[in-house]
Amino acid sequence: MIKPLAEMACDVLQTADAVAKTQLSRRYAADWFAARQDDARPDIGRADPPLRPARPDKPELLSPRDVPRRRPGTPEGRAAILHAVAHIELNAVDLHWDIIARFSDVPMPIGFFDDWVKAADEESKHFGLVSDCLARLGSHYGALPAHAGMWRAAEDTAQDFMGRLAVVPMVLEARGLDVTPGMIDIFRKAKDDQAVAALEVIYSEEVHHVAYGSKWFHFLCGRHDKDPKEIFHDLVRRYFHGPLKPPFNEEKRAEAGLPPDFYWPLSDEVPLRK
Ligand SMILES: [Fe+2]
Ligand SMILES: [Fe+2]
Repeated sequence: MIKPLAEMACDVLQTADAVAKTQLSRRYAADWFAARQDDARPDIGRADPPLRPARPDKPELLSPRDVPRRRPGTPEGRAAILHAVAHIELNAVDLHWDIIARFSDVPMPIGFFDDWVKAADEESKHFGLVSDCLARLGSHYGALPAHAGMWRAAEDTAQDFMGRLAVVPMVLEARGLDVTPGMIDIFRKAKDDQAVAALEVIYSEEVHHVAYGSKWFHFLCGRHDKDPKEIFHDLVRRYFHGPLKPPFNEEKRAEAGLPPDFYWPLSDEVPLRK
């Protein structure tokens, strides 16, 4: 017997050390999928997760304005990019466990839990891959300041399940699909094969996280008889501060089940009609 999933989620959220957090996350994901082999529906349980997850003392969290700019042409600049990615991955680990715990009172098909446990496991792996790249550059997670605003979307949508799906996977993680190819280019030019390989794993797996968001968002729209596009626009305008920024990776967004009429109307630019 494993612990109820919502309790496992809270354990990860309450672990402060980044390496311990990601290791526990991977172990619980393995436990979950092992339990799923023997039991069609292991216990989800109920949980009351903290509003903010436990985090290590370092990195220092600064407002985005105060995070020093990165110059990708230098090794320090590239280490800063990887440090920012590690921070995003660690936040993503918490975000995926948080959606499981926070909305554990809403009955959902078992596939919902499988998807977010898998996503949390992958984010934990991503954190490890990027940490290994940082180590090779003589750095580590915590060596530089990081973005303080990253948990804001979670707090803003703590009471709104559909808002959480709209803003976290379908806006923030979709944004990752837009910017990752440019990052891969920077490391390819610098001949950092290890970082290229890590970012390519991240890029290919992130498509699925956006797709899980879109899938479960549409499921809830169906349950509540809402028009998906309309409610998506309402929720993003309510919870996401500012317009979405093109260029959009239309190719990968399409693969993830995000059609152009979902995101273009939320940008302040007019799409190029092809
Ligand atoms: Fe990731
Ligand atoms: Fe992700």
